[in-house]
Amino acid sequence: MELFDLSGRVAVITGGNGGIGLGMALGMARAGATIVVAGRDAAKNRAAVEQIEAAGAKACAVAVDVLKEESCRKLIAQSIESHGRLDILVNNAGINIRKQPEQYTLAEWHTVLDSNLTSAFLCSHAAYPHMKQAGAGKVINIGSMMSLFGAPFATAYAASKGGMVQMTKAMATAWAKDNIQVNAILPGWIDTALTRRAREQISTLHDSVLRRTPAGRWGVPDDFAGIAVFLAAAASDFVTGAAITVDGGYSALG
Ligand SMILES: NC(=O)c1ccc[n+]([C@@H]2O[C@H](COP(=O)([O-])OP(=O)(O)OC[C@H]3O[C@@H](n4cnc5c(N)ncnc54)[C@H](OP(=O)(O)O)[C@@H]3O)[C@@H](O)[C@H]2O)c1
Repeated sequence: MELFDLSGRVAVITGGNGGIGLGMALGMARAGATIVVAGRDAAKNRAAVEQIEAAGAKACAVAVDVLKEESCRKLIAQSIESHGRLDILVNNAGINIRKQPEQYTLAEWHTVLDSNLTSAFLCSHAAYPHMKQAGAGKVINIGSMMSLFGAPFATAYAASKGGMVQMTKAMATAWAKDNIQVNAILPGWIDTALTRRAREQISTLHDSVLRRTPAGRWGVPDDFAGIAVFLAAAASDFVTGAAITVDGGYSALG
């Protein structure tokens, strides 16, 4: 058995058209997987597919809005119809609305929770029957340092990312009997569109991340290629319900 070989496997990645999602997509593509890039922005979807194909792998894009149940269900159904299988689901799409807790409207709260957490539930729910029937599957959920810590500007985001870890553990225990592994990755501070917006809003963020991260740098999307391959491949077949930090030591520092 090839521990890190993903040849012949099909991976759906929500938010796979940029940032951490694209970093994971390229890693899995280089390991042999066919990638379904699932995002809202058609131009970003196309550019991501081109980049993955340029790396020598097969890829296609599916337009999805993970805020909509029907769209999540169609994404999974369409991916299976096009490729005949679904081996790996990466629940990576996510947003943040940065505000003090008392400033959120209920609609804003729901937008963050639905984008980050409910979407992962819906896509996993839709993928499960196919993975069960196939006798194997890998679900990878993207958490955050906010799965572990709090911050004044992250009430809804932290709730969603804390929930992501607990949902991961619950699904892992339910689906272990079906040979489906469910794990979470908790990124530290990574240079992407999401955190570029955060740096615009919080002027001290850039330097405080450098000071607070033992590795002394921001992470980059490529830092997620290896962990994605590990959690998608046979190498992790007895790893389930784990929440693995990829943070340059951020969460280890007291
Ligand atoms: N960057 C960090 O430091 C950091 C740290 C911890 C966790 N994370 C998590 O990592 C994940 C990826 O974030 P990123 O940093 O790579 O930022 P990003 O580049 O902004 O990626 C977010 C992705 O989510 C997609 N998305 C958002 N809402 C969607 C919706 N309703 N339907 C479909 N797709 C949607 C976006 O696609 P479109 O552009 O097409 O809408 C985009 O591809 C998120 O879950 C984030 O919370 C990031």
